[in-house]
Amino acid sequence: MMYKQELTPEDLLKIIFEYTAKIANERQLNAVLVHMADMGRELILSDRCTVWLIDETNHEIYTTVAHGVDEIRIPFGTGLVGNAISAGEPIIIEDAYSDPRHNADNDRRTGYHTKSIITVPFRNNDGEIIGAYQAINKLTEVDYFTSRDLELLSLAASYAGKSLESVMLHQEIIDTQREIIFTMGEIGEIRSKETGNHVKRVAEYSYVLALGLGLSVSQAELLRTASPMHDIGKVAIPDAVLNKPGKLTEEEYDLIKDHTKIGHQLLKGSKRELLRTASIVAEQHHEKWDGSGYPAGRKGEDIHIFGRITAVADVFDALSAERVYKEAWPLEKIEKLFREERGRHFDPRVVDVFFAELPKLLQIRKRLADEE
Ligand SMILES: [Fe+2]
Ligand SMILES: [Fe+2]
Repeated sequence: MMYKQELTPEDLLKIIFEYTAKIANERQLNAVLVHMADMGRELILSDRCTVWLIDETNHEIYTTVAHGVDEIRIPFGTGLVGNAISAGEPIIIEDAYSDPRHNADNDRRTGYHTKSIITVPFRNNDGEIIGAYQAINKLTEVDYFTSRDLELLSLAASYAGKSLESVMLHQEIIDTQREIIFTMGEIGEIRSKETGNHVKRVAEYSYVLALGLGLSVSQAELLRTASPMHDIGKVAIPDAVLNKPGKLTEEEYDLIKDHTKIGHQLLKGSKRELLRTASIVAEQHHEKWDGSGYPAGRKGEDIHIFGRITAVADVFDALSAERVYKEAWPLEKIEKLFREERGRHFDPRVVDVFFAELPKLLQIRKRLADEE
């Protein structure tokens, strides 16, 4: 194996400049964690490096090991990182296998050999510990970590800390918005006897379809957050009409159709991009590609892409679900309908993506299935 040479001060500065610039421009928490981990790994010449954060609400610590990979979560106080965070002290281990604190399960499972370890908790501006760096296996000839590495990781944490905190705050706001929106969306759905996870599934389907259509991640996320409010306008429809058993009169049906206009009215005055997006979805999710939908009879690309996507997601979920008055449709029957309605009810491109992404959609359907 080729050993690496310790870095010169110029090298160190270069790495710090490069990564702090990247981190400062990043709005996604996961991406910040990955950049911080990469910075740490390069600064101290370790083979692996991860950044862990504290989730106070759930009494867990969590990390993201690579872009696009889901988080890993463990309970407070477990593992070396958990211990270092709880104690507020760094841990340096020269040889993991002669140290009782090392848990070798992971090595056994993955075939990786852990030798040296360093874990350094870091703090925010108020002095509270918010997370920790953990690095494994020093790649220099001296094959363990030293107090110099400890200083470098602390330095990396302090450079990234401000951006990290603001991104965490941003994430907290986004999560809060999402929760409120799901709750609001559920009000509309509960009133119309939609059940359980309907709005959550529509949100996730919309996200997958948006990405499949080539929309940016941020647009797809915007739609995912906004789409649960598509039926919010139903809050204003009288119960006697909304839940009338049997056939509706034409006037009653017109009243129900008004949920699109009402939802639009409720939300359109907002200055928030998110709520304005929700107002578009609320208004346009019953429009049809061929112009035969409501409320405006918009046609083709005159219907906002978010409306066209939500239409597919909403109908897919409605057909998939069992209702008091109907069985869940079998998948073939659903597929047949989407083929027939391609270019009629639905945007042909969205239907094509629907079929291309069907395995993912079915996974979501299973994961978010309503409990009996
Ligand atoms: Fe609707
Ligand atoms: Fe719906």
